[in-house]
Amino acid sequence: MASKIAIDFIAQDLPETGTVVLFSGSKKSFSALLKKLDKQCEGQISKAMSVSSFEGQENQLIEILSPAKLNLSRILVLGLGDETASENRQWMNIGGRIGACAASDPQGLVTIMAQDIGDKHVFTPDAVASMATGYLMRRYEFDKYKKSTSEKASKPKHTIKTVALACKNVKACASAYKPLEALRAGVFMARDLVNEPGNILGPVEFALQIRELESLGLKVTILDEAEMAASKMNALLAVGQGSVRESRLAIMQWNGSDNAKDKPLAIVGKGVTFDSGGVSIKPSAGMEDMKGDMGGAACVTGLMRTLATRKAKANIIGVVGLTENMPDGKSYRPGDVVTSMSGQTIEVLNTDAEGRLVLADVLTYTIKHYKPTAVIDLATLTGAILVALGKEYAGLFSNNERLAKRLLKAGEVSGEKLWRMPLGKAYDKLIDSRIADMKNTGGRLAGSTTAAQFLQRYVGDTPWAHLDIAGTAMASPKSHINQSWGAGFGIQLLNELIMEHYE
Ligand code: BES
Ligand code: MN
Ligand code: ZN
Repeated sequence: MASKIAIDFIAQDLPETGTVVLFSGSKKSFSALLKKLDKQCEGQISKAMSVSSFEGQENQLIEILSPAKLNLSRILVLGLGDETASENRQWMNIGGRIGACAASDPQGLVTIMAQDIGDKHVFTPDAVASMATGYLMRRYEFDKYKKSTSEKASKPKHTIKTVALACKNVKACASAYKPLEALRAGVFMARDLVNEPGNILGPVEFALQIRELESLGLKVTILDEAEMAASKMNALLAVGQGSVRESRLAIMQWNGSDNAKDKPLAIVGKGVTFDSGGVSIKPSAGMEDMKGDMGGAACVTGLMRTLATRKAKANIIGVVGLTENMPDGKSYRPGDVVTSMSGQTIEVLNTDAEGRLVLADVLTYTIKHYKPTAVIDLATLTGAILVALGKEYAGLFSNNERLAKRLLKAGEVSGEKLWRMPLGKAYDKLIDSRIADMKNTGGRLAGSTTAAQFLQRYVGDTPWAHLDIAGTAMASPKSHINQSWGAGFGIQLLNELIMEHYE
Protein backbone atom coordinates (compact mmCIF):
# COMPACT_ATOMS: atom_id res chain seq x y z
CA MET A 1 0.00 0.00 0.00
CA ALA A 2 1.30 3.43 -0.80
CA SER A 3 2.05 5.41 2.30
CA LYS A 4 -0.59 7.96 3.20
CA ILE A 5 1.43 9.42 6.04
CA ALA A 6 3.02 12.77 5.25
CA ILE A 7 6.58 13.39 6.42
CA ASP A 8 7.41 16.93 7.47
CA PHE A 9 10.75 18.39 8.54
CA ILE A 10 10.27 21.34 10.88
CA ALA A 11 12.27 23.59 13.20
CA GLN A 12 13.12 22.45 16.68
CA ASP A 13 10.18 23.85 18.64
CA LEU A 14 8.01 21.77 20.92
CA PRO A 15 4.60 21.12 19.36
CA GLU A 16 1.37 22.14 21.06
CA THR A 17 -0.77 19.20 20.04
CA GLY A 18 -0.48 15.56 19.10
CA THR A 19 2.04 13.01 20.24
CA VAL A 20 5.58 14.13 20.92
CA VAL A 21 8.50 11.72 20.88
CA LEU A 22 11.76 12.49 22.68
CA PHE A 23 14.89 10.52 23.45
CA SER A 24 17.06 9.67 26.37
CA GLY A 25 20.57 8.33 26.34
CA SER A 26 21.66 5.88 29.03
CA LYS A 27 21.70 7.12 32.64
CA LYS A 28 18.92 9.52 31.77
CA SER A 29 20.91 11.87 29.57
CA PHE A 30 18.53 14.32 27.98
CA SER A 31 18.30 16.98 25.35
CA ALA A 32 17.52 20.58 26.33
CA LEU A 33 14.06 20.22 24.84
CA LEU A 34 13.20 17.27 27.05
CA LYS A 35 14.20 19.25 30.13
CA LYS A 36 12.10 22.17 28.94
CA LEU A 37 9.08 19.98 28.33
CA ASP A 38 9.50 18.32 31.72
CA LYS A 39 9.28 21.77 33.35
CA GLN A 40 6.22 22.68 31.32
CA CYS A 41 4.33 19.66 32.63
CA GLU A 42 5.51 20.13 36.19
CA GLY A 43 8.07 17.32 36.22
CA GLN A 44 5.68 14.66 35.02
CA ILE A 45 8.31 13.16 32.74
CA SER A 46 10.97 12.77 35.42
CA LYS A 47 8.37 11.40 37.85
CA ALA A 48 7.19 8.85 35.30
CA MET A 49 10.79 7.87 34.74
CA SER A 50 11.44 7.20 38.37
CA VAL A 51 8.27 5.18 38.96
CA SER A 52 9.09 2.97 35.97
CA SER A 53 12.85 2.85 36.72
CA PHE A 54 13.54 4.26 33.28
CA GLU A 55 17.24 4.71 32.74
CA GLY A 56 17.30 5.44 29.02
CA GLN A 57 18.45 1.98 28.08
CA GLU A 58 17.74 0.74 24.58
CA ASN A 59 14.15 -0.51 24.24
CA GLN A 60 13.06 1.30 27.42
CA LEU A 61 10.08 3.53 26.90
CA ILE A 62 7.85 5.74 28.96
CA GLU A 63 4.51 7.04 27.90
CA ILE A 64 2.59 9.88 29.52
CA LEU A 65 -0.96 10.30 28.36
CA SER A 66 -2.56 13.71 28.33
CA PRO A 67 0.21 15.49 30.31
CA ALA A 68 -0.70 18.21 32.79
CA LYS A 69 -0.80 21.86 31.70
CA LEU A 70 -0.37 21.01 28.02
CA ASN A 71 -2.59 20.27 25.06
CA LEU A 72 -0.42 17.36 23.96
CA SER A 73 -2.16 14.02 23.70
CA ARG A 74 0.91 12.09 24.68
CA ILE A 75 4.60 12.26 25.49
CA LEU A 76 6.82 9.32 24.61
CA VAL A 77 10.42 9.02 25.65
CA LEU A 78 12.47 6.34 23.96
CA GLY A 79 15.72 5.02 25.37
CA LEU A 80 18.69 5.02 23.00
CA GLY A 81 21.08 3.29 25.39
CA ASP A 82 24.85 3.54 25.37
CA GLU A 83 25.65 2.74 21.81
CA THR A 84 25.86 5.59 19.32
CA ALA A 85 23.82 4.77 16.24
CA SER A 86 25.88 5.60 13.18
CA GLU A 87 24.49 3.60 10.26
CA ASN A 88 21.27 4.58 8.51
CA ARG A 89 20.00 1.07 9.23
CA GLN A 90 20.22 1.67 13.00
CA TRP A 91 18.29 4.92 12.70
CA MET A 92 15.70 3.19 10.55
CA ASN A 93 15.23 0.66 13.33
CA ILE A 94 14.76 3.48 15.83
CA GLY A 95 12.18 5.00 13.48
CA GLY A 96 10.54 1.59 13.33
CA ARG A 97 10.35 1.41 17.11
CA ILE A 98 8.65 4.79 17.11
CA GLY A 99 6.30 3.54 14.42
CA ALA A 100 5.34 0.71 16.75
CA CYS A 101 4.54 2.82 19.81
CA ALA A 102 3.33 6.04 18.16
CA ALA A 103 0.90 4.43 15.76
CA SER A 104 -2.15 6.54 16.50
CA ASP A 105 -3.05 9.95 17.81
CA PRO A 106 -6.33 11.88 18.16
CA GLN A 107 -4.89 14.79 16.15
CA GLY A 108 -3.20 12.46 13.71
CA LEU A 109 0.13 14.10 14.46
CA VAL A 110 3.41 12.69 15.75
CA THR A 111 6.34 15.04 16.28
CA ILE A 112 9.76 13.52 16.78
CA MET A 113 12.20 15.81 18.56
CA ALA A 114 15.52 15.08 16.87
CA GLN A 115 17.75 17.07 19.16
CA ASP A 116 21.31 15.92 19.92
CA ILE A 117 22.06 14.49 23.34
CA GLY A 118 25.58 15.72 24.05
CA ASP A 119 27.94 14.34 21.43
CA LYS A 120 26.80 10.77 21.96
CA HIS A 121 23.51 10.71 20.09
CA VAL A 122 23.82 13.04 17.14
CA PHE A 123 20.91 13.49 14.77
CA THR A 124 22.57 14.03 11.41
CA PRO A 125 20.35 14.70 8.37
CA ASP A 126 20.81 11.06 7.33
CA ALA A 127 19.80 9.91 10.81
CA VAL A 128 16.66 12.05 10.81
CA ALA A 129 15.69 10.99 7.30
CA SER A 130 16.31 7.34 8.14
CA MET A 131 14.10 7.59 11.23
CA ALA A 132 11.27 8.94 9.09
CA THR A 133 11.78 6.09 6.62
CA GLY A 134 11.86 3.48 9.37
CA TYR A 135 8.63 4.85 10.81
CA LEU A 136 6.86 4.44 7.46
CA MET A 137 8.33 1.01 6.80
CA ARG A 138 7.06 -0.17 10.17
CA ARG A 139 3.57 1.13 9.39
CA TYR A 140 3.27 -0.70 6.05
CA GLU A 141 0.20 -2.89 5.95
CA PHE A 142 -1.26 -5.07 3.21
CA ASP A 143 -4.91 -4.56 4.05
CA LYS A 144 -6.55 -4.06 0.65
CA TYR A 145 -8.59 -7.24 1.08
CA LYS A 146 -9.84 -6.35 4.55
CA LYS A 147 -13.17 -5.02 3.40
CA SER A 148 -15.65 -5.83 6.13
CA THR A 149 -16.70 -2.72 8.01
CA SER A 150 -16.72 -4.44 11.38
CA GLU A 151 -13.07 -5.27 10.89
CA LYS A 152 -12.27 -1.67 10.04
CA ALA A 153 -14.39 -0.37 12.93
CA SER A 154 -12.38 -2.38 15.43
CA LYS A 155 -9.20 -0.62 14.33
CA PRO A 156 -8.09 2.47 16.22
CA LYS A 157 -9.57 5.51 14.48
CA HIS A 158 -6.77 7.86 15.36
CA THR A 159 -4.88 7.40 12.12
CA ILE A 160 -1.60 9.27 11.81
CA LYS A 161 -1.67 11.84 9.02
CA THR A 162 1.65 13.55 9.62
CA VAL A 163 4.96 12.62 11.13
CA ALA A 164 6.94 15.78 11.80
CA LEU A 165 10.64 15.64 12.49
CA ALA A 166 11.82 18.62 14.50
CA CYS A 167 15.43 18.93 13.45
CA LYS A 168 18.44 21.23 13.32
CA ASN A 169 18.72 21.67 9.56
CA VAL A 170 15.36 21.34 7.89
CA LYS A 171 16.69 21.71 4.35
CA ALA A 172 19.49 19.18 4.76
CA CYS A 173 17.12 16.66 6.33
CA ALA A 174 14.57 17.08 3.56
CA SER A 175 17.22 16.50 0.92
CA ALA A 176 18.64 13.48 2.77
CA TYR A 177 15.10 12.12 2.84
CA LYS A 178 14.53 12.24 -0.92
CA PRO A 179 16.56 9.15 -1.89
CA LEU A 180 15.24 7.31 1.16
CA GLU A 181 11.68 8.05 0.14
CA ALA A 182 12.56 6.48 -3.22
CA LEU A 183 13.90 3.47 -1.34
CA ARG A 184 10.72 3.21 0.69
CA ALA A 185 8.55 3.36 -2.42
CA GLY A 186 10.55 0.54 -3.99
CA VAL A 187 10.33 -1.61 -0.86
CA PHE A 188 6.57 -1.04 -0.57
CA MET A 189 6.08 -2.00 -4.20
CA ALA A 190 8.02 -5.23 -3.67
CA ARG A 191 6.07 -6.02 -0.49
CA ASP A 192 2.79 -5.42 -2.32
CA LEU A 193 3.83 -7.72 -5.15
CA VAL A 194 4.92 -10.52 -2.79
CA ASN A 195 1.79 -10.25 -0.64
CA GLU A 196 -0.58 -10.22 -3.61
CA PRO A 197 -2.29 -13.61 -4.11
CA GLY A 198 -1.69 -15.75 -7.17
CA ASN A 199 -5.20 -15.37 -8.58
CA ILE A 200 -4.78 -11.60 -8.80
CA LEU A 201 -1.12 -11.41 -9.75
CA GLY A 202 -0.15 -13.71 -12.61
CA PRO A 203 2.71 -13.16 -15.07
CA VAL A 204 0.63 -10.86 -17.30
CA GLU A 205 -0.57 -8.71 -14.42
CA PHE A 206 2.96 -8.50 -13.03
CA ALA A 207 4.24 -7.36 -16.44
CA LEU A 208 1.53 -4.69 -16.58
CA GLN A 209 2.72 -3.28 -13.27
CA ILE A 210 6.24 -3.17 -14.67
CA ARG A 211 4.99 -1.38 -17.78
CA GLU A 212 3.65 1.40 -15.54
CA LEU A 213 7.18 2.16 -14.39
CA GLU A 214 7.79 3.77 -17.76
CA SER A 215 6.31 6.93 -16.27
CA LEU A 216 9.43 7.16 -14.06
CA GLY A 217 11.72 7.21 -17.07
CA LEU A 218 12.56 3.51 -17.17
CA LYS A 219 12.74 1.86 -20.55
CA VAL A 220 10.49 -1.18 -20.35
CA THR A 221 10.44 -4.07 -22.83
CA ILE A 222 8.06 -7.00 -22.43
CA LEU A 223 8.34 -10.22 -24.39
CA ASP A 224 5.28 -12.43 -24.80
CA GLU A 225 5.38 -16.19 -25.36
CA ALA A 226 5.69 -15.94 -29.16
CA GLU A 227 8.66 -13.61 -28.81
CA MET A 228 10.27 -15.85 -26.22
CA ALA A 229 9.72 -18.85 -28.47
CA ALA A 230 11.44 -16.96 -31.28
CA SER A 231 14.42 -16.53 -28.93
CA LYS A 232 14.27 -20.27 -28.16
CA MET A 233 13.61 -19.76 -24.44
CA ASN A 234 12.24 -23.27 -24.16
CA ALA A 235 13.28 -23.83 -20.55
CA LEU A 236 11.28 -20.86 -19.25
CA LEU A 237 8.38 -21.67 -21.54
CA ALA A 238 8.32 -25.32 -20.39
CA VAL A 239 7.61 -24.18 -16.83
CA GLY A 240 4.61 -22.12 -17.91
CA GLN A 241 3.23 -24.79 -20.25
CA GLY A 242 0.74 -26.16 -17.73
CA SER A 243 -0.73 -22.79 -16.81
CA VAL A 244 -3.68 -21.11 -18.51
CA ARG A 245 -1.82 -17.87 -17.96
CA GLU A 246 0.84 -16.77 -20.40
CA SER A 247 4.46 -16.28 -19.40
CA ARG A 248 6.29 -12.98 -19.84
CA LEU A 249 9.84 -11.69 -19.83
CA ALA A 250 10.15 -8.11 -18.62
CA ILE A 251 13.20 -5.88 -19.02
CA MET A 252 13.63 -2.60 -17.19
CA GLN A 253 16.50 -0.33 -18.21
CA TRP A 254 17.79 2.61 -16.24
CA ASN A 255 20.49 4.65 -17.95
CA GLY A 256 21.48 7.14 -15.28
CA SER A 257 25.24 7.09 -15.72
CA ASP A 258 26.91 10.24 -17.07
CA ASN A 259 28.61 7.93 -19.51
CA ALA A 260 25.72 6.44 -21.48
CA LYS A 261 28.07 3.81 -22.89
CA ASP A 262 28.92 2.32 -19.46
CA LYS A 263 28.14 -1.39 -19.55
CA PRO A 264 25.23 -2.06 -17.23
CA LEU A 265 25.00 -4.06 -14.06
CA ALA A 266 22.22 -6.62 -14.58
CA ILE A 267 19.85 -7.72 -11.82
CA VAL A 268 17.81 -10.79 -12.66
CA GLY A 269 14.79 -12.16 -10.78
CA LYS A 270 12.82 -15.39 -10.55
CA GLY A 271 9.17 -14.51 -10.97
CA VAL A 272 7.09 -17.65 -10.50
CA THR A 273 3.79 -16.05 -9.53
CA PHE A 274 2.58 -19.35 -8.12
CA ASP A 275 4.58 -22.56 -7.74
CA SER A 276 2.34 -25.59 -7.23
CA GLY A 277 5.28 -27.81 -8.11
CA GLY A 278 3.57 -28.78 -11.37
CA VAL A 279 3.16 -32.51 -12.04
CA SER A 280 5.68 -33.15 -9.22
CA ILE A 281 3.08 -31.44 -7.10
CA LYS A 282 3.93 -30.03 -3.68
CA PRO A 283 2.22 -31.24 -0.49
CA SER A 284 -0.82 -29.07 0.31
CA ALA A 285 0.42 -27.89 3.70
CA GLY A 286 2.04 -24.54 3.14
CA MET A 287 1.51 -24.50 -0.60
CA GLU A 288 -0.24 -21.14 -0.25
CA ASP A 289 3.15 -19.61 0.50
CA MET A 290 4.15 -20.27 -3.09
CA LYS A 291 2.34 -17.10 -4.16
CA GLY A 292 5.58 -15.53 -2.96
CA ASP A 293 7.76 -17.47 -5.37
CA MET A 294 8.22 -14.25 -7.32
CA GLY A 295 10.13 -12.58 -4.47
CA GLY A 296 13.22 -12.25 -6.67
CA ALA A 297 11.28 -10.52 -9.44
CA ALA A 298 9.55 -8.29 -6.87
CA CYS A 299 12.92 -7.20 -5.54
CA VAL A 300 14.22 -6.41 -9.03
CA THR A 301 11.08 -4.43 -9.84
CA GLY A 302 11.09 -2.50 -6.56
CA LEU A 303 14.79 -1.78 -6.94
CA MET A 304 14.33 -0.41 -10.46
CA ARG A 305 11.56 1.80 -9.15
CA THR A 306 13.87 3.10 -6.42
CA LEU A 307 16.74 3.74 -8.85
CA ALA A 308 14.55 5.61 -11.32
CA THR A 309 12.84 7.63 -8.58
CA ARG A 310 16.09 8.75 -7.03
CA LYS A 311 17.71 9.14 -10.45
CA ALA A 312 20.66 6.90 -9.65
CA LYS A 313 23.82 7.78 -11.56
CA ALA A 314 24.37 4.29 -12.89
CA ASN A 315 23.36 2.05 -15.76
CA ILE A 316 21.32 -0.79 -14.34
CA ILE A 317 19.14 -3.30 -16.09
CA GLY A 318 16.53 -5.42 -14.37
CA VAL A 319 15.22 -8.57 -16.05
CA VAL A 320 12.52 -10.85 -14.66
CA GLY A 321 11.15 -14.16 -15.91
CA LEU A 322 7.45 -14.32 -15.12
CA THR A 323 5.55 -17.58 -15.21
CA GLU A 324 3.20 -19.87 -13.28
CA ASN A 325 4.01 -23.52 -12.49
CA MET A 326 0.82 -25.62 -12.64
CA PRO A 327 -0.16 -29.28 -13.19
CA ASP A 328 -2.27 -29.86 -16.31
CA GLY A 329 -2.57 -32.03 -19.40
CA LYS A 330 -0.25 -29.59 -21.14
CA SER A 331 2.32 -29.46 -18.33
CA TYR A 332 5.91 -30.42 -18.80
CA ARG A 333 6.59 -33.75 -17.14
CA PRO A 334 9.32 -35.51 -15.20
CA GLY A 335 11.65 -37.12 -17.74
CA ASP A 336 11.16 -34.43 -20.40
CA VAL A 337 14.24 -33.03 -22.08
CA VAL A 338 14.16 -29.36 -23.01
CA THR A 339 16.67 -27.35 -25.00
CA SER A 340 17.41 -24.05 -23.30
CA MET A 341 18.14 -20.81 -25.14
CA SER A 342 21.86 -21.43 -24.59
CA GLY A 343 21.59 -24.67 -26.59
CA GLN A 344 22.34 -26.77 -23.51
CA THR A 345 19.81 -29.53 -22.87
CA ILE A 346 18.09 -30.18 -19.54
CA GLU A 347 16.56 -33.43 -18.33
CA VAL A 348 13.66 -32.49 -16.07
CA LEU A 349 13.66 -34.92 -13.14
CA ASN A 350 11.35 -32.84 -11.01
CA THR A 351 8.95 -30.20 -12.30
CA ASP A 352 9.17 -28.51 -8.90
CA ALA A 353 12.79 -27.54 -9.56
CA GLU A 354 11.41 -24.96 -12.00
CA GLY A 355 13.14 -21.77 -10.84
CA ARG A 356 16.48 -22.79 -12.29
CA LEU A 357 14.84 -23.43 -15.69
CA VAL A 358 13.36 -19.97 -15.68
CA LEU A 359 16.63 -18.35 -14.64
CA ALA A 360 18.71 -20.35 -17.13
CA ASP A 361 16.97 -18.64 -20.04
CA VAL A 362 16.73 -15.24 -18.39
CA LEU A 363 20.47 -15.29 -17.63
CA THR A 364 21.30 -16.38 -21.19
CA TYR A 365 19.07 -13.70 -22.68
CA THR A 366 20.41 -10.95 -20.42
CA ILE A 367 24.07 -11.75 -21.00
CA LYS A 368 23.61 -12.17 -24.76
CA HIS A 369 21.67 -8.95 -25.34
CA TYR A 370 23.09 -6.56 -22.75
CA LYS A 371 26.68 -7.77 -22.11
CA PRO A 372 26.57 -6.63 -18.47
CA THR A 373 29.72 -6.01 -16.38
CA ALA A 374 28.20 -8.33 -13.81
CA VAL A 375 24.93 -10.09 -13.19
CA ILE A 376 23.25 -10.69 -9.87
CA ASP A 377 20.22 -12.96 -9.70
CA LEU A 378 17.73 -13.20 -6.88
CA ALA A 379 15.48 -16.22 -6.50
CA THR A 380 13.35 -18.02 -3.96
CA LEU A 381 15.13 -21.05 -5.34
CA THR A 382 15.43 -23.82 -2.76
CA GLY A 383 13.86 -25.03 0.46
CA ALA A 384 17.35 -26.25 1.30
CA ILE A 385 18.61 -22.71 1.89
CA LEU A 386 16.01 -22.40 4.67
CA VAL A 387 17.34 -25.58 6.24
CA ALA A 388 20.91 -24.26 6.04
CA LEU A 389 20.49 -20.59 7.02
CA GLY A 390 16.97 -20.14 8.35
CA LYS A 391 15.55 -16.65 7.92
CA GLU A 392 18.59 -14.73 9.16
CA TYR A 393 20.71 -14.77 6.03
CA ALA A 394 20.16 -15.20 2.32
CA GLY A 395 22.56 -17.57 0.57
CA LEU A 396 25.25 -16.01 -1.61
CA PHE A 397 26.91 -17.97 -4.41
CA SER A 398 29.42 -16.32 -6.70
CA ASN A 399 32.12 -16.97 -9.28
CA ASN A 400 33.78 -13.64 -8.48
CA GLU A 401 35.59 -12.74 -5.26
CA ARG A 402 35.31 -8.99 -5.67
CA LEU A 403 31.59 -9.06 -6.32
CA ALA A 404 31.02 -11.49 -3.44
CA LYS A 405 32.97 -9.31 -0.99
CA ARG A 406 31.08 -6.20 -2.04
CA LEU A 407 27.77 -7.96 -1.61
CA LEU A 408 28.70 -9.29 1.84
CA LYS A 409 29.66 -5.77 2.90
CA ALA A 410 26.44 -4.26 1.51
CA GLY A 411 24.58 -6.93 3.48
CA GLU A 412 26.21 -5.88 6.73
CA VAL A 413 25.59 -2.18 6.10
CA SER A 414 21.98 -2.58 4.99
CA GLY A 415 21.04 -5.28 7.48
CA GLU A 416 19.91 -7.58 4.65
CA LYS A 417 22.56 -10.12 5.43
CA LEU A 418 24.19 -12.68 3.17
CA TRP A 419 26.14 -15.83 3.94
CA ARG A 420 28.58 -17.15 1.36
CA MET A 421 27.94 -20.73 0.27
CA PRO A 422 30.30 -22.98 -1.67
CA LEU A 423 30.44 -23.83 -5.37
CA GLY A 424 32.79 -26.35 -6.95
CA LYS A 425 33.48 -29.04 -9.52
CA ALA A 426 32.46 -31.90 -7.27
CA TYR A 427 29.05 -30.29 -6.77
CA ASP A 428 28.75 -29.52 -10.45
CA LYS A 429 29.15 -33.21 -11.29
CA LEU A 430 26.03 -33.98 -9.27
CA ILE A 431 23.85 -32.44 -11.97
CA ASP A 432 25.31 -34.33 -14.92
CA SER A 433 22.52 -36.24 -16.66
CA ARG A 434 22.59 -39.66 -18.27
CA ILE A 435 20.88 -38.49 -21.43
CA ALA A 436 21.16 -34.70 -21.55
CA ASP A 437 23.71 -31.98 -20.70
CA MET A 438 22.35 -31.63 -17.20
CA LYS A 439 19.46 -32.62 -14.97
CA ASN A 440 17.44 -30.16 -12.94
CA THR A 441 17.96 -31.75 -9.52
CA GLY A 442 21.13 -32.92 -7.86
CA GLY A 443 19.68 -35.24 -5.29
CA ARG A 444 19.32 -34.86 -1.55
CA LEU A 445 22.72 -33.39 -0.71
CA ALA A 446 23.65 -29.69 -0.89
CA GLY A 447 20.39 -28.79 -2.61
CA SER A 448 21.04 -25.04 -2.69
CA THR A 449 24.51 -25.50 -4.12
CA THR A 450 23.46 -27.90 -6.87
CA ALA A 451 20.78 -25.37 -7.85
CA ALA A 452 23.45 -22.67 -7.98
CA GLN A 453 25.75 -24.97 -10.01
CA PHE A 454 22.93 -25.31 -12.50
CA LEU A 455 22.71 -21.52 -12.87
CA GLN A 456 26.47 -21.20 -13.18
CA ARG A 457 26.33 -23.28 -16.34
CA TYR A 458 24.49 -20.35 -17.96
CA VAL A 459 26.72 -17.40 -17.05
CA GLY A 460 30.04 -18.26 -18.68
CA ASP A 461 32.79 -15.84 -17.64
CA THR A 462 30.49 -13.01 -16.64
CA PRO A 463 31.03 -12.03 -13.00
CA TRP A 464 27.95 -13.43 -11.34
CA ALA A 465 26.31 -13.74 -7.96
CA HIS A 466 23.23 -15.71 -7.07
CA LEU A 467 21.19 -14.86 -3.99
CA ASP A 468 18.92 -17.63 -2.77
CA ILE A 469 16.23 -15.64 -0.93
CA ALA A 470 13.76 -18.48 -0.26
CA GLY A 471 14.20 -17.89 3.49
CA THR A 472 14.16 -14.10 3.51
CA ALA A 473 11.74 -12.90 0.83
CA MET A 474 8.52 -14.33 2.26
CA ALA A 475 7.05 -15.47 5.56
CA SER A 476 9.58 -13.04 6.95
CA PRO A 477 10.24 -12.70 10.66
CA LYS A 478 8.79 -9.46 11.99
CA SER A 479 11.32 -6.73 12.58
CA HIS A 480 11.41 -3.10 13.69
CA ILE A 481 10.91 -2.02 10.10
CA ASN A 482 8.75 -4.82 8.77
CA GLN A 483 5.61 -6.50 10.05
CA SER A 484 4.49 -7.83 6.71
CA TRP A 485 4.65 -11.36 5.26
CA GLY A 486 6.59 -10.08 2.29
CA ALA A 487 9.57 -8.06 3.51
CA GLY A 488 10.71 -6.68 0.15
CA PHE A 489 14.07 -8.30 0.83
CA GLY A 490 17.07 -7.30 -1.25
CA ILE A 491 16.26 -3.74 -2.26
CA GLN A 492 18.12 -2.10 0.60
CA LEU A 493 21.02 -4.49 -0.02
CA LEU A 494 21.33 -3.80 -3.75
CA ASN A 495 20.63 -0.10 -3.41
CA GLU A 496 23.57 0.04 -0.99
CA LEU A 497 25.78 -1.97 -3.38
CA ILE A 498 24.92 0.32 -6.28
CA MET A 499 25.48 3.54 -4.29
CA GLU A 500 28.83 2.26 -3.07
CA HIS A 501 30.27 0.75 -6.26
CA TYR A 502 28.30 1.69 -9.36
CA GLU A 503 27.56 5.41 -8.97
N1 BES B 1 10.01 -22.25 -4.92
C1 BES B 1 10.60 -23.43 -4.42
C2 BES B 1 11.59 -23.17 -3.29
C3 BES B 1 11.03 -22.64 -2.01
C4 BES B 1 10.74 -23.48 -0.95
C5 BES B 1 10.85 -21.29 -1.83
C6 BES B 1 10.26 -22.98 0.24
C7 BES B 1 10.36 -20.78 -0.63
C8 BES B 1 10.08 -21.63 0.40
C9 BES B 1 11.36 -24.13 -5.55
O1 BES B 1 10.80 -23.97 -6.81
C10 BES B 1 11.32 -25.59 -5.24
O2 BES B 1 10.28 -26.14 -5.24
N2 BES B 1 12.49 -26.16 -5.00
C11 BES B 1 12.58 -27.54 -4.67
C12 BES B 1 13.73 -28.13 -5.47
C13 BES B 1 13.81 -29.62 -5.43
C14 BES B 1 12.62 -30.22 -6.13
C15 BES B 1 15.08 -30.05 -6.08
C16 BES B 1 12.83 -27.65 -3.19
O3 BES B 1 13.52 -26.80 -2.62
O4 BES B 1 12.29 -28.55 -2.57
MN1 MN C 1 9.30 -25.39 -7.21
ZN1 ZN D 1 9.71 -22.28 -7.13
